[in-house]
Amino acid sequence: MTRASRAVASPRVVSIEDLRALARRRLPKVVFDYVDGGADGEVTLAENRRAFDAVTFRPRYAVEVRGDLRTRVLGGDLALPVVLAPVGYSRLVHPGGEVAAARAAGAAGTTYILSTVSGHRLEDVKAASSGPVWYQLYLVGGREAAEAALERARTAGFSMLVVTVDTPVVGMREREIHGGTKQLLGGGITAKLPFLPQLFARPAWLAAFLRDGALPRLPNIVRPGTGPMTLAEARTELSRAVFTWRDLQWIRGVWRGPIVVKGVLTGDDARRAIDEGAVAVIVSNHGGRQLDGVPASLHALPEVAAAVNGQAEVLLDGGIRRGSDIVKAVCLGARAVLIGRSYVYGLGAAGEAGVARAIEVLRADLERTLTLLGCPSISALDRSFVNVPRADGAQVGPALVPARPR
Ligand code: FNR
Repeated sequence: MTRASRAVASPRVVSIEDLRALARRRLPKVVFDYVDGGADGEVTLAENRRAFDAVTFRPRYAVEVRGDLRTRVLGGDLALPVVLAPVGYSRLVHPGGEVAAARAAGAAGTTYILSTVSGHRLEDVKAASSGPVWYQLYLVGGREAAEAALERARTAGFSMLVVTVDTPVVGMREREIHGGTKQLLGGGITAKLPFLPQLFARPAWLAAFLRDGALPRLPNIVRPGTGPMTLAEARTELSRAVFTWRDLQWIRGVWRGPIVVKGVLTGDDARRAIDEGAVAVIVSNHGGRQLDGVPASLHALPEVAAAVNGQAEVLLDGGIRRGSDIVKAVCLGARAVLIGRSYVYGLGAAGEAGVARAIEVLRADLERTLTLLGCPSISALDRSFVNVPRADGAQVGPALVPARPR
């Protein structure tokens, strides 16, 4: 057992915030800020959290409970209603990166979603997991690169395609600009120099990073004739990879499997996604990393759930840090949630062991919250278990807000 895995296994690690603190100690500031930061003034990033904190519970005491966390998502059975979100270039955080996260997800009985911008071969990521793995698509490198990746993903056994629609340009992540992400990822040695001390301040991370070949190319973005892209190229290309609904028609023809649309915040976009053939939508503001000033995902959820009206499944991400957040999201209409930073803090702290610990923390939280709430199972959660705040700050009970469609 390494020192890092011992640290995450400590009985004193009881929350995602504890894992975040360990990740902060192991990662250079520039890498920690890449994970932790949001866009512009980070208003939406903070809102994502505030929205969960503002919802309160309506417990039922003196009833029997079973703590059954099993959830059916898009035809598959998950051990808990938590899916690991696509997180670009997790290999920067830890050499195990996407492979380590997928393995931990599979072992915990849940799904991992692999980002297009990934450091490990998609075939290796699929092979690492004993559970379902989905592929997330950006049109980086154009249609030819996407077609090649989709063909490989289908052959490797990815069961679902997730198309992210909220990234027509990469959000302005001010922490990254100040911290030197761009210079460290792509600049020459003179540009890098001012930022090198922060890497030397984290020798364990730096040694692992150098042993891993520093910044390997991206094996899943391969433009015919030019080979795999570099991370710096992909970051530039991402801002040219605008997605439109017309592209979805073309993607459907190429992929021929089920498609989930990620990044929906309004009822109109949710309806459009379903009309274009999506089997599920993910209510998401990209963890507050894209358009700052959009609402918290939890606040967008009721409008989307009402517009979808049971015709597709609704998932949600953004700000999930505790099991109680997951319960609140399910009560307000989500079938399950995605977690991003919550598992990446674990990855940064101790690779696969850290991801496993993050999932375990949330699983234990979930079980305890259901028991305290007096609810037997995830599938029995509904609007009657929560109060939501009204604009004037008062708490609104179930009668005033439409119930979750069943
Ligand atoms: C992301 N996210 C993301 N989404 C996506 O569709 N493709 C991607 O490549 C990435 N990359 C990425 C990198 C990092 C460092 C983060 C933190 C997030 C967004 C991600 O899938 C998810 O929507 C958010 O992370 C959810 O918010 P929380 O759980 O991090 O608060």
